[in-house]
Amino acid sequence: MEKKVYLNGEYLPLSEAKISVLDRGFLFGDGVYEVMPYYQGNFLGFKSHIERLNNSLAEIRLDLPYSVAQWHEILSPLMDNTRNQYIYLQVTRGVAPKRDHLFPKPTVPTVFAMCNDIPPFLEREHGIKGLTIADNRWARCNIKATALLANLLLKQQADDEGCGEAILVKDGYVTEGSASNVFAVVDGVLMTAPKGPAILAGITRDIVLELARANQIPVSEQAIPVTALKTASEIWVASSTREIVPIVELDGEKVADGKAGAVWQKMNALYQAYKQQDHV
Ligand code: PDD
Repeated sequence: MEKKVYLNGEYLPLSEAKISVLDRGFLFGDGVYEVMPYYQGNFLGFKSHIERLNNSLAEIRLDLPYSVAQWHEILSPLMDNTRNQYIYLQVTRGVAPKRDHLFPKPTVPTVFAMCNDIPPFLEREHGIKGLTIADNRWARCNIKATALLANLLLKQQADDEGCGEAILVKDGYVTEGSASNVFAVVDGVLMTAPKGPAILAGITRDIVLELARANQIPVSEQAIPVTALKTASEIWVASSTREIVPIVELDGEKVADGKAGAVWQKMNALYQAYKQQDHV
């Protein structure tokens, strides 16, 4: 059976879900999105994801006042509670009568959601390679915008060099990954860039920090100098779909002994236990 997706109030087979070529998401990348993990019947961080979506919507001045409960009602029918899945949810500024940079009046947002299986994370145990690249994105990275061209180019550049993630550097400091947040263990302290317009503050990032604080792992929400990254004992990237992945090689040099480190082992175990619990 073909999978169903949600589009503007309807549940449709994927091949029947159609939008206009005048949709501003298509023409301008004028929209925002969320990616939420779902483990065997439970969304992880649902409320936090919806709060971040609302923040993105407010930042782009798009009004869509659905409550957390309404979103839950919309998205739940897409999920299969026997599988590990993630939901992709996108809201654009909808269809306008013609291509015009200014916002249409009235605005009727396009709301689209689909669900996919989370693939098994073979990479997690072995780690991946990272490549530092200059962060040349815009100044409002806190908005989870669908316009991801800069991120795509950076990720592709890393992949071209055989690396699983681009580690982005601005003014000598690590901001984040092309599709993840970056953590490093420096002198025994787990560091990650502070929230602000230079990063998309991940829900996974929040969970990692919460788990670290509850389990006596010293943390610092302070930007990581790239010089400190080069001598870090551990580097990780974190996101909803990849969870927490060790970077075992950076710019062609091993990170410590080139294996997932002890702090990662501890955090990964905490995270795996946490995701099995019921959360709002
Ligand atoms: N991206 N930073 C960027 C630039 C991201 O694209 C993502 C996730 C994150 C981590 O956020 P979270 O922990 O809430 O997933 C940080 C998603 C997974 C994506 O674009 O598919």
